[in-house]
Amino acid sequence: MISTETQATPHIRTELPGPNARRVLAGDRQYISPSYTRDYPLVAAQGRGMKVTDVDGNEFLDFSAGIAVCSTGHCHPEVVAAIQAQAAKLIHMSGTDFYYEQMVAVAEALSRVAPMPGPHRVYYGNSGAEANEAAIKLARYHTGRQSIIGFYNSFHGRTMGALSLTSSKVTQRARFAPLVPGFFHIPYPDPYHPLHGAADVTAACLEDLDRLFRTTTPANEVAALFLEPVQGEGGYVVPPAEFLRELRKICTQHGILLVVDEVQSGCGRTGKMWAIEHFGVEPDIVTSAKGIASGMPLGVTLARAELMDWSAGAHASTFGGNPVCLAAAQATLKLLAGGLVRNAAEVGAYALEKMKAWPQRYSLVGEVRGLGLMLGIEIVSDQKSRTRNGESRNRLVQAAFRRGLLILGCGPNTIRLMPPLICTRGDVDTALSILETCLAEEEKKTAGKLPA
Ligand SMILES: Cc1ncc(COP(=O)(O)O)c(C=O)c1O
Repeated sequence: MISTETQATPHIRTELPGPNARRVLAGDRQYISPSYTRDYPLVAAQGRGMKVTDVDGNEFLDFSAGIAVCSTGHCHPEVVAAIQAQAAKLIHMSGTDFYYEQMVAVAEALSRVAPMPGPHRVYYGNSGAEANEAAIKLARYHTGRQSIIGFYNSFHGRTMGALSLTSSKVTQRARFAPLVPGFFHIPYPDPYHPLHGAADVTAACLEDLDRLFRTTTPANEVAALFLEPVQGEGGYVVPPAEFLRELRKICTQHGILLVVDEVQSGCGRTGKMWAIEHFGVEPDIVTSAKGIASGMPLGVTLARAELMDWSAGAHASTFGGNPVCLAAAQATLKLLAGGLVRNAAEVGAYALEKMKAWPQRYSLVGEVRGLGLMLGIEIVSDQKSRTRNGESRNRLVQAAFRRGLLILGCGPNTIRLMPPLICTRGDVDTALSILETCLAEEEKKTAGKLPA
């Protein structure tokens, strides 16, 4: 049951940024690492359900969920109660050296919903990068092989191992070399931008993998292949199911572990617990973070039990699987199973249906795509040539903010909608009507000026 209390109508009371926000922004400019990328000056003070209120009392409808993290909405009462109760009992003990029951309870809950048959084992870290870092190390440890394959435009995190797998934007890698050796990349099948214009995007990308095996790294030296089942930061790209099924076959044939990075696509966002379940493919390892604990930091590496054969001391983290974060995860998993995954499927389908005609209505919209509440709107300057239009996309994100809707971009020219999974049809109506106003305005502004 989705509470109507979560319904939020944007209410902008001051200029943006307002006076209090400007004070925080000045402090941020002075003290905070300039490496963060903020698209607009939202200074958040409070969050409740679908609503974020800034330090000047402006109210925003949140279709970003803290980058796909606040899966149950901001400060869901059951999550807050679980955090408070656990914080009053035991804040930290460290699972690296001691035992506590929350580690087992969440692992049991995850094992019940895993996208591959059990038994399973779980490793806990603090973030998506750490979940992938653990999966990279585990794959090498278990297989005794060195090579790791990832996809261009994929994002897996920014620690040195995860960054070696990340191939999203060159600014994320520039000046950090040498990265970890043994990582290779192949193209991700993007049906809207097929590789070299190929008619069969699956065949073209599989040919690249085969070429890698023939020319660069033998298949029998590959430990793992890391895949985002829906590419997130790269542009909310949904691959053909056939491609994923072929990958599974190739991995099995060569003894390569198939790792699915569900850090962004998992925890119900796509309308199933894991995005990989849409494709009828069973992975060997799943990595998760973001939405799993509704905003508390937790990374999970969930593997078929026999793969987790590393010895005591091989890998650990002081804070990983902190009891308070695990209490939040327990409450989150309960809410997901109790209706939020189903809601993501239903409300996501409603939103997609409502946007179906946008490419006919707006020349700036090339394609609308996605699964559940992981939705992408690709902005182009010419629908026929599918020319990417990052400038209009950036302006649309800004314009939405000024009208009280929080959205973010992904990839070079896509807008992503990733609201909390409590999102209602009413919230979708509000958000899409704001976006339509922004699109109409941007079309007016750019009429006759866009390069095709
Ligand atoms: C698919 C995917 N993997 C990994 C990460 C890294 O997660 P974190 O920022 O928690 O390290 C992200 C973050 O955006 C992601 O989208």
